[in-house]
Amino acid sequence: MDTWKAIRGKRDTRDYEPRPIADDAQRRILQAGRMAGSSKNAQPIRLVVIRDAARKRALAACGDFTTHLPDSPLVIVIVRFDGSRPFDAGRTAQNMMLAAHELGIASCPVGIQHDERAREALGLPSDTVVAMAITFGYPRGGRAVGRGEARLPIGEYVHWEQWGGTGDGAPSA
Ligand SMILES: Cc1cc2nc3c(=O)[nH]c(=O)nc-3n(C[C@H](O)[C@H](O)[C@H](O)COP(=O)(O)O)c2cc1C
Repeated sequence: MDTWKAIRGKRDTRDYEPRPIADDAQRRILQAGRMAGSSKNAQPIRLVVIRDAARKRALAACGDFTTHLPDSPLVIVIVRFDGSRPFDAGRTAQNMMLAAHELGIASCPVGIQHDERAREALGLPSDTVVAMAITFGYPRGGRAVGRGEARLPIGEYVHWEQWGGTGDGAPSA
């Protein structure tokens, strides 16, 4: 799959077939996370792989928008050490989701709002925090379908040279 196609086609999908992710695909996804760059190559990210049903339910109770999480065959929790930058976790997440997308595996980031509960559910050390959980699964119906939410028009999204600058560099009226 070419990179542009992958970026455009990846939509956050929450409806998965129950079948497990193939071992080689799972390995590829984990490697994609590992290859993400980090500030000063500090590598402050660790991944917790969750496939056990009870553990998934426990993790779902740590977030506010997690209804699809227990039905996802594979959940990867991105953990970062205190003092690290959330940006590093974002790169890890997108790498894994795009690598999965190429293999026909859909995914969705899931926010974990209740830190202490998550720390307990996963047995995390006290100097770490959950950055994000990502659900993965083969999309039901064979196609990754998001909620179809549009993106901002490019003119609203991009500012040229300064805030409010238009394509010729002048602030918009
Ligand atoms: C930081 C972040 C947190 C998110 N948290 C959740 C979540 O808790 N539950 C969920 O179902 N989707 C979550 N999403 C997915 C967003 O709803 C999704 O990216 C957005 O609606 C765009 O989806 P699309 O790519 O399918 O258009 C999250 C996305 C991001 C980037």
